[in-house]
Amino acid sequence: MSDTSSTTAIEFDVPPEKRPRHIAVIMDGNGRWAGERGLPRIEGHRHGVASVRRTTEECARLGIRQLTLYCLSSENWKRPQEEIDFLMHLLQQYMIEQRGTIARQNIRVAVIGRRPGIPDEVLRDMDKTVELSRHNTGMRLCLAINYGGRAELLDAVGQIARKVKTGQLDSDELSETTIAENLYTAGMPDPDLLIRTAGEMRVSNFLLWQISYAEIWVTERPWPEFDQQQLHQAIRDFAARKRRFGGLDEKRKAES
Ligand code: IPE
Ligand code: IPE
Ligand code: MG
Repeated sequence: MSDTSSTTAIEFDVPPEKRPRHIAVIMDGNGRWAGERGLPRIEGHRHGVASVRRTTEECARLGIRQLTLYCLSSENWKRPQEEIDFLMHLLQQYMIEQRGTIARQNIRVAVIGRRPGIPDEVLRDMDKTVELSRHNTGMRLCLAINYGGRAELLDAVGQIARKVKTGQLDSDELSETTIAENLYTAGMPDPDLLIRTAGEMRVSNFLLWQISYAEIWVTERPWPEFDQQQLHQAIRDFAARKRRFGGLDEKRKAES
């Protein structure tokens, strides 16, 4: 795997300065992938972990500064207990197994989302992996676990209200920065590119504040089939987009 990827690194045609700094991914379609093969949904999740490893490795190699992966939403608890239990088991295994790779690739792990509901033993291994990678200086791998964009905004509002009450913040001086600084993602750049697999055209409560100006890229392929070629295509398409942030592009500006 590493042999083929180093060959592609040289061949990859998007120069570093045109690559997104932060890529966020809604990893969807594990269940459908399994269903199409007559397999139980959990097999889809198991294969999904292989895509996580592949994508993380390739993003690190391409010099992407941050990769944020939507692993479990605050709405996913509605699923059958058996599926939830398996997802927790996979998560714990992943946290343990990946420590070597994370160290080798100099990756800094962060977790965003609410802790209540996640079993203690999973939290323990999650915290340990985050702690072990704390001093790494390479790509930040941010895992959204029991994450919901609305819950995050609600938590931020609560935190801001408490700071106003205790005099740490002045209510007349609130700004967009105040909100950003009180989100789970405080200190992280906003995603430049949002990838969604399995074709749905929705954001499913992911990073509602942070994706205001993210470029969206959707593929029909389910997450277990997301590979290096797809990632490269998403980055190529991103590099060809004109991001205007509400302004005019250079050509229009010159015409006016
Ligand atoms: C994404 O795949 C993984 C999680 C949400 C945990 P799904 O499990 O949502 O797969 P589909 O959408 O049912 O195919
Ligand atoms: C989004 O996928 C959540 C994750 C990828 C973790 P879902 O499968 O939960 O989204 P919906 O239900 O199709 O909107
Ligand atoms: Mg889904």
